This record gives sequence, C-alpha cells and structure tokens, in this order.
Amino acid sequence: MSLSPLSRQALGVCYYPEHWPEERWPTDARMMAEAGIEYIRIGEFAWSLMEPEPGTYDWAWLDRAFQVLHDHGLKIVLGTPTATAPKWLVDRMPDMLGVDVEGRVRGFGSRRHYCFSHQGYRTESRRITQAMAERYGDHPALAAWQTDNEFGCHNTIYSYSDAARTGFREWLAQKYQSPDALNRAWGTVFWSMTYRSFDEVELPNLAVTQTSPIHQLDFRRYSSDQVVAFNREQADIIRAHSPGRPISHNFMGKFTDFDHYDVSDDLDIATWDAYPTGFLERELNDETLLKKHIGIGAPDFDAFHHDLYRTCGQRRNGTENGRWWVMEQQPPGPLNWGNYNPAPLPGAGRLWVWEAFAAGAEVVSWFRWRQPPFGQEQMHEGLLLPDGTPNHGYDLAKEISAELDALRPEPSNARAEVALVFDYDSEWVMKIMPHGRGTTHFDTVMSHYVALRRAGISVDVVPPTAEAISGRKLIVAPMLAILPDGFAQALADCGAEILAGPWTGSKDRNFAIPEGLPPGELRKLIDIRLRRVETRRAFSPIPLASGGTFDGWREFIEPGAAVTVEEASEDGHPAVLSQDRTTYVAGRADEATLARLIRAALDRAGVAHLDLPEHVRVRDNGSLRFVFNYGREAVDLTDAFPDADLAMGTLSLDPCGVACLKR
Ligand code: GAL
Repeated sequence: MSLSPLSRQALGVCYYPEHWPEERWPTDARMMAEAGIEYIRIGEFAWSLMEPEPGTYDWAWLDRAFQVLHDHGLKIVLGTPTATAPKWLVDRMPDMLGVDVEGRVRGFGSRRHYCFSHQGYRTESRRITQAMAERYGDHPALAAWQTDNEFGCHNTIYSYSDAARTGFREWLAQKYQSPDALNRAWGTVFWSMTYRSFDEVELPNLAVTQTSPIHQLDFRRYSSDQVVAFNREQADIIRAHSPGRPISHNFMGKFTDFDHYDVSDDLDIATWDAYPTGFLERELNDETLLKKHIGIGAPDFDAFHHDLYRTCGQRRNGTENGRWWVMEQQPPGPLNWGNYNPAPLPGAGRLWVWEAFAAGAEVVSWFRWRQPPFGQEQMHEGLLLPDGTPNHGYDLAKEISAELDALRPEPSNARAEVALVFDYDSEWVMKIMPHGRGTTHFDTVMSHYVALRRAGISVDVVPPTAEAISGRKLIVAPMLAILPDGFAQALADCGAEILAGPWTGSKDRNFAIPEGLPPGELRKLIDIRLRRVETRRAFSPIPLASGGTFDGWREFIEPGAAVTVEEASEDGHPAVLSQDRTTYVAGRADEATLARLIRAALDRAGVAHLDLPEHVRVRDNGSLRFVFNYGREAVDLTDAFPDADLAMGTLSLDPCGVACLKR
C-alpha cells in the first residue's frame, strides 16, 4: 500500500460493527459497496471489547469484521480506541482522569476522560496501540490509521491535575533552564510572584484573579505539546508495525486548544469532522447567519477548515504530496448536538461533499452508517435508519458516487495566490487577553476569509512560516499578535503584497509589549508605532472618513516619514496606512469596509477577483471551477460566467446547487 494520493476521490463512512448483530455485517458491507462507498472507519471507541479484562485481548470479533469488509472489497481505516478508556482501567488508575479548571475530577461515563499528562495512561495508550498495530498492521484490507478521536472534544485539552502540574514544571525547567530566566521572561516582579524553584510554580487555575498572561500562555503551549507527544507516541508505534499505512487524526471545527500544525507534523493525512448545520447552530450562533443559511450551513465556515486542514496535511509530506480528508461528514439529516437540530435543505448534503472535493479532499466519509436506536447519539441521523433500511444519505452516496465517476476531478495541490495566516499562539494570546470582550484571532481571521471568498478567491490558510508564504501574491495577516522569530523578515523578503493589522505584532514571545512598541518586528516593513488601542461596545463603532466604521477595535498609530496615511477616522486618526508593499489596518473594519480593503489589496497584488451574488461561492481547483449556491433562493449565473463550459450542473443554481465549469 503506498502513501501516494488515491487515483480517484472517494467516499467513506464511519461504521460500528460492534453495535449490530454479526449476521447483519455482510448485508451492511454489500450495501456500502453498492452505494460506491470505499473507505470504512472502524474501531475508535471499542477498547472495552478489544480488551474486556486487563491484559486479555479479544480480537476474534474484530478479525471477523475485517474479513467481512475485506470480502466486499472495502478498505479499512482503523482507529485507536484511546478516547474511551474502559472502566477497569480507570478503576486501576483513577488519577488518569482529567481535572477541570475548577479543580473537579471528570468522571467516567461518557468519553475522553483522560488527562494527556498522565504518564500511566500514556503507557496504556502505547500498549493498546502496539497490540492493534501488531495484530492488524499488515492486514490487506487496512488502508489507513486514525489516532484516538477528536483530540480535545468536550473541552479536554486543559487538565489541572497533579500529573499536569508535575509535567508543567518539568516543561518549564526544560524551557527556561533556571528560575531566574523564568522570572525575567514572565516578569514575575509584577505582584511579587518571584519563584525560587520550578517546584513553586502552580497551574494557572484557582487563583484569586487572573494569573500572569505568560503563565497562562505557557500552560497552553505545554498542554498543546502533550497532545503532540500523545499523538506522536501512537504514530511512532504504528509506523514501526504497519509500514506504508498512512496515519491520520480527525480534527474539529473552530477548535483551537492545541496547535494543529504541530500535531500534523506526525500525520500523513490530516482529516477533520464537518457538521455544517451543527456549526451554524452552535459555533457561530449568529442570528443573521442563521436566518440566511438555516438548513445549509454558513458558506465559509466549513470551507475555511478545508483550507486550514489541507495545509496541515502538507506538513509531513510537503505541499506536493499533502493529503487531507473529511473523516466525518454530516449526513443530509439532523444532528443531535446543536442547540436546535434542523433538517438540512434538500441538496445541502450534496453541496457539502462537493465543496470538500473541490477543496481537494481525497475522501469524504460520512458519520455514520446507521443511526443507533440506543445510546447518547440515537437522535443523530445516519445513512441508514435505525431499522437498517436506507435513509436519504444512502441515496446521496449513490448519487455522488455516480457523479464522481462521470466528472473524475483531478485535484491539484498548486499553491493559492493568496495566503491567510492563522496561528494558534496568537489565538491563545487573544483568548487570554482579548482587551474587548469576545475578540479572537480566529474570528478576525475568519472575517478576512469571508471577504476573500466573497470576492471569489481560493485561499490557503497557513501558519506564520517563511515556507508557507513563499510563492504567493498576497499575504493577509490580521491580529497575528505574536510574530514568530524570523517571520517579519520572511514577509519583508517574500515579494508579496502584505495586508496586516489590526494588532499584528502586538506582543513578543513572552506576552509582553514589544520593544519599540507594536507592531514590533513588523516595523521592518512599515514604520509605524502603536501608542494606544481602544475597544468599544457594539453600539459605538468608530466612523471612518470614508463612510465605513471600525467595529469596536481601534488603534492610535504614529506614522514614520516613509508612511502614507491612506484613510483616516472621522476624528482624524490614521486608519489605513501603507509603505511600499505593506498595508496596515488600524482597526477591525466592518464587513463592507473590509470587503473594500480586501479587493483593493487583491488589485495591488494583481489577483483577479469576481463580483458574485451574496450567497454564491467559487472554488478553483486544477482544470475545474466549482460554483456553489449557499442561499435559500435560486440564482441565475449565466451572465456572471458568459462563456462557461459546463462539466456538471447548470448555471441556474437551485438553493444548495452545485455547478462545475472547465477553466
Ligand atoms: C464527533 C465525534 C463522533 C460523533 C459525532 C456526532 O464529534 O467524533 O464520535 O460523536 O461527533 O456528530
């Protein structure tokens, strides 16, 4: 089995054979194959069946499940079961349980009840991984692995346990080498927090008021490193015992508690779990968006993650061989975990899958095969009804499979002209010190992403590294609070147009105001000094002379001699400033203003953009251009694409319609 990308984009499904009588398995496998589904993910929650008693493995049932799937020509993605440690293990090792920020031990009874820092659990994780890898590593049906399941789901990255305290102290000792160095870096002279030894450092919870921001940031960095180490330990074992089988992990949407780029360094395939109506309901929770896109999902939210995790999939194997999948795709039916769980509009399920394929996903795999009549997720739709007969998703699989056969897209890994920088350290800075309630790096980056997509631009979402920004025409880096060492120089050297601010370069690595004032090192590109930042409530935006506004976040900037003030606020402060190829926006622009600024930047960079109806989105890939209607009304795009050579669909797009044009 090779690591090279698949010959055709493919469909998959998440399957739990252990939930159903064995007599049913051949029927399931036959139906999967008949629907054109090729990849079947199994195993990730089945530890208590694999090892019913400590040290006593029962592989017989899993062997038979492998055999049935193999007999039907299906390919297996095998998950390690470490998200669901069995009760006997918890009873033997009760301190493996995570501890929440209030100091409460998290109980057994659902899943993800472990603490990443617990060395005993880490040993258990390696043991079960090794046992599985030895058993199934070279099985002919085994196509890929998944480590664990959704690291961090249910708020489980940060644990305030004894194990975490010990681990954090060791990590700090490694990083700073001496308590004096830590004292200097953390500025512990503030509020008399000087430490005499690393053993005096506590976890940053349960203090009277907020602990020092760098204390919190270092704890987040430490916790992220534990996820990286946990994943790496499994990946190393799998690589040793199952050579040639790619390793994946399934990331989540709008989840930023660990650095996904770092974890991806150990993955051959980055995957993620896309639930458009759930995200719209729960993560976005925005009335205006909800009203426009209920039953469809937000036009740019899932797309953003495709573009982020595609980059993650390139970390280990390089851009050319980067690989990514959607491991769990919402079926075209209601979920169980939104605030409300609307039925997707007809066509929405198809649009989601095509958006992912257009973004280059090798496999889109639905969650889940059959809706379970029991358990926590009994209200979550599957491709089959609880009684085992086809639901809408099953028919959709057949439909898309036929479309894939007809269209046979050949996704390209070519770099997008535009790179949008997303950075976990900067997200943590904003979570720790938002300055204005609710301001996050994620949301600020997302608003720029929306503006770019509205202009018909295909974007790569990338980390702040020299490699990631090379070969671009435009680099957009808003609220990149911490510029990693060397990144400002890379921006200066890369030759692209740069759009930065607000708050880019506002902190140094130690969460302090940089020497010479913000934007710190960015002053290599644009000679400005930030003297003050104010945040305001939603009802008092800052009017700009151009007619737009800054919404709640505005900086007071002192420009150097070489800087041009392009725009000002009504009260006369510089709002948009430029020097050579760099433009700095000194506030959080409203949607229309941001759209205008983005289009101007695209023009300066020489990137062609489009005028599209509000709910229409476009994605270019290889020789194809995909067009999507995320609106609840039909749109006619015949005039927008006059010479279109259609490969799929028509330009009169129904709600949730998809068309594909040859470029
Ligand atoms: C995911 C998870 C799955 C399942 C699914 C339901 O977060 O990985 O196991 O719970 O959500 O939508």
